This record gives sequence, structure tokens and C-alpha cells, in this order.
Amino acid sequence: MLVNLKEILNGVAKSDSAIPGFNVFGYEDAIAVVRAAEELNAPVILMTNKVAVSHMSIEILAKILCGVAENAKVSVCVHLDHATEYELIAKAIKAGYTSVMYDGSQLPFEENIRNTKEVVRLAHACGVSVEGEIGAVGYSDPSLKVAARYTEPEEAKIFAESTRVDALAVAIGTLHRMETQEAVIQYDRLETIEKLTDVSLVIHGSTGIKDEDLTKLSKYNVAKVNIGTALRRVFGNTMREEIKNNPKESDRIAFFQKPMLEVQKEAKKKMELLGLGKK
Ligand code: G3H
Ligand code: ZN
Repeated sequence: MLVNLKEILNGVAKSDSAIPGFNVFGYEDAIAVVRAAEELNAPVILMTNKVAVSHMSIEILAKILCGVAENAKVSVCVHLDHATEYELIAKAIKAGYTSVMYDGSQLPFEENIRNTKEVVRLAHACGVSVEGEIGAVGYSDPSLKVAARYTEPEEAKIFAESTRVDALAVAIGTLHRMETQEAVIQYDRLETIEKLTDVSLVIHGSTGIKDEDLTKLSKYNVAKVNIGTALRRVFGNTMREEIKNNPKESDRIAFFQKPMLEVQKEAKKKMELLGLGKK
């Protein structure tokens, strides 16, 4: 069932669980993630990032991901991740995305608020949810030159109140694309943010979060946890092995089977760590 982010987050607000947003790049990883969610009878978020859009148009991606979501036995949100352009957001909404992130984290505070408000106006009029970002979750690769900045709790409060976003990404110690699970989470900062605002919080760069911290975070007002690198790694590494081990095979559907199963397993593991699937 295709739903928006707000509908999914309502179910986990103030609960001991959080919903993962997984970056997916096509049918194979999208269906694998949904199968994991169905195994646990839990909701899930399929996310499209800029790399996916550079490979396939947002209209085609929408048809694939919304198709997978509509046929799922659980609630699935189809979300545009880290969009910095209003035009792309408008296209995604028109194409069927049920949630969008406007990422103004590299802009001055007032400009981020102004632009996010415009996106909220458009999206909410269409029944689509919006995630904003305050502070900036950077990248583990310094050559990418994306500024990282911890979230100031007072700014989070002002941002959430003035933009009315449905979810707010905060920077509390993670970085995107970490190779190892060694992020040091600033729980004090998180607690101060939670005292000042009750907006659902989003953590990015969650591949770098230790298993025990994923579980701990899900007990806070953290409702959405973004995971990309972990699944990409599983898919790519398994595919490499499959090709190496089957030199006579040339059928791509045959090559996809094992990577899809491994992605399903990894997604299920992350969902269980986030408190999903408990009786
Ligand atoms: O928005 C996407 C996520 O923040 C993914 O981060 O690739 O480090 O798990 P990750
Ligand atoms: Zn992110």
C-alpha cells in the first residue's frame, strides 16, 4: 500500500521503533526491501537519491517504486531524498512520490527556512509529506567538500515551527557513506533537541551507526533512519561474487537472485535493530 511519510510516522511517534528509509536504485533492491518489510509486517520507506535520478528519470523511477509500493502487503512510502531543487521536487510530486526532502543544509539559515516553506506549501497542498534538514550531515569522504555542522537545538525549534515540516533531519554525529560502524552519537544534543520540539526526527548516514545505537536511537523521537551504503555494499559485493563464481552464466536475472536475497536479509536485520517486527 502506497502511503505518505506522515501516515507512516504517526504509527511510530513516541514509540520504541523507527522506520528505515532505504536508498534504492531500481526494481531489484526495492522489491527486496519490501519483502523484508512484509516478513516483519512493518512499514518501510523507499528513497530515491540524485545518483538514481542521474541514471533513470524521476517519472520512470516513480512508476517502478510506486508500483512496488502499491502491490505491497505493508505500508510503503516513496520518498525523494536530499533534493536541492524546487523543480525536481515538483516533478517528483507530479510523478507520484508521496514524500520529499528539501535539503537546504548548505544554505544560510533564513534561506533554508524560506525555501523549505515554499516546498511545504506545494507538497502539503498535494497530500505529500516534507522532510527538512537543519545543521548539516556531511560526508566521510572529505574530497566531496560538503560542509558538516552539528544541529543547534534552538535552530531546530525555530526551523520546525516556522516551516511545519513533517520530519526533520538533524546532525548529531553521523556522516554519510561511512565504511565502518563507528559514528559517535551526541545523545545530549539529541535530548536537548527533543526538549525543544516534538517534530519527528530523522537520522542520515545511518550505515555508520553501531547496532546498539540504532536500537537506542529508535527509543527517542527518532522516527526515520536513512540507510544507503549498507545495502549498496551488500548488493554490489554479492553481485561481484556471483559473476566470479558463475563464469558460464550470462543471464542478468540469474545474477540478480543472490544479491536480492542478501539485500532482503540486511534490510530485515536493520529493521529488527530499529524495533520493528516485535510481537
Ligand atoms: O540520505 C541517505 C542516507 O543518509 C544514507 O546514508 O549511505 O551513509 O547510510 P548512508
Ligand atoms: Zn542523507
